[in-house]
Amino acid sequence: MRNRITVVGLGYIGLPTAAVMAAAGMEVIGYDLNPRVVEALNKGEIIIEEPGLGQLVKEMVGQGRLRGISSLESSDVFIISVPTPINADKTADMSFVRSAARAVAQVVAKGNAVVLESTSPPGATEDIVAEELKASGLKIGEEIFVAHTPERVLPGRILIELVENDRIIGGINAESTEVVKEIYQRFVKGSIYTTDSRTAEMCKLMENTFRDVNIALANELAILSEKMGINAWEVIKLANKHPRVNLHMPGPGVGGHCIAVDPWFVIEGQPEGKLIRQARDRNDGMPLHVLQTIRDLTKGIDTPKVAIFGVTYKPDVDDTRESPIMKLVEMLVREKNYEVAIHDPHVDDAIFKYGELKKPTALEAADGADLFVLAVNHSEYLRLDFEEIGKVMRTRQIYDTRNFLGGAGLEALGFKVLLLGRG
Ligand SMILES: NC(=O)c1ccc[n+]([C@@H]2O[C@H](COP(=O)([O-])OP(=O)(O)OC[C@H]3O[C@@H](n4cnc5c(N)ncnc54)[C@H](O)[C@@H]3O)[C@@H](O)[C@H]2O)c1
Repeated sequence: MRNRITVVGLGYIGLPTAAVMAAAGMEVIGYDLNPRVVEALNKGEIIIEEPGLGQLVKEMVGQGRLRGISSLESSDVFIISVPTPINADKTADMSFVRSAARAVAQVVAKGNAVVLESTSPPGATEDIVAEELKASGLKIGEEIFVAHTPERVLPGRILIELVENDRIIGGINAESTEVVKEIYQRFVKGSIYTTDSRTAEMCKLMENTFRDVNIALANELAILSEKMGINAWEVIKLANKHPRVNLHMPGPGVGGHCIAVDPWFVIEGQPEGKLIRQARDRNDGMPLHVLQTIRDLTKGIDTPKVAIFGVTYKPDVDDTRESPIMKLVEMLVREKNYEVAIHDPHVDDAIFKYGELKKPTALEAADGADLFVLAVNHSEYLRLDFEEIGKVMRTRQIYDTRNFLGGAGLEALGFKVLLLGRG
């Protein structure tokens, strides 16, 4: 039985995976290039935030079932969970995966399994991981087994979802699939579906592409509705009464490190990927659409002040990666004639970046503003006191890009309210 597992890359995916496998009784080693991560692990500590992870890591390290290393050792299984960011030209940066596979090739031995968990363009498991492993001199698929096992956990629930979610395992050949399935079966309670590695890679990418394309459709509906005097939100509510229709929600853009990134991996080098590309362009164009509306709403005001509420890529998180609101803020700041205030209960650094000395309260951000832009539907914003906010604003105008403040009685408080997607 392959019981000694090495996880290569101890980030949001790798470290929880290592801890969960240790908890399932395997001997787990964590390898990372960042010495801080390895040192922390060996003290039973973590440097990332994830509910329950600190406690589990402490227990596993304490019981001698999990330890960190800075140079690779022999193992039965290697799980690669290193970053796969996107380059400026929208191609996948596979340099981390390549260097991880190269390092594994130096220590891999007959009978070992190598699993790629990083989200990767179709073909990466075969063309990069299996290819680099050839340097070991062993026969790939016969003496070393290679598979892709995509990860679809939700930050905040990673420890639960690692165990309970269904998994897809795609080997570079049938034997690889079976070997890797046996390993994952020891800690996954969800169903395990098997396929080949290219299909597994495409599945993960298509899950996020499905959402991106559907959001783009909703955004297109919103833009058309604004021009045609229709309320897109009403259209969505009513059209979704159809038993086989599920229109998504429009908004100021798509962000984060998955939905806004993965579609590019699908169409890399594929000119036929037209719909997916157009969906990306539509969603990437939303911050500019919001900016144009802000320009219209502040026309004729000398140095208008715009207060942006929420800068993260989705509600109730502190993550601003690929956030469309950060793009909007950057564009507004570049316009020069605007005074821009940012408020976000979850984020500090974004506020500091734009020169505020301390994080403003909601009233400080709205003070003297000519436009309040509801950019992220953080739960906290349902509890804002708009009576007080109205008193400090110079012009009582609200632009709700999420159809979120409908219940706040804004018109009765004297606000002019504009809704993204309502003509
Ligand atoms: N975070 C998520 O919610 C999530 C969800 C699904 C899929 N994924 C995918 O999982 C992969 C990993 O993402 P993450 O969020 O865990 O990344 P991360 O940035 O949190 O962590 C990656 C770790 O890998 C280390 N590393 C980089 N190159 C290395 C190498 N050659 N050898 C050893 N260590 C190396 C880094 O030091 C870092 O600690 C990515 O492909 C990502 O797209 C992430």
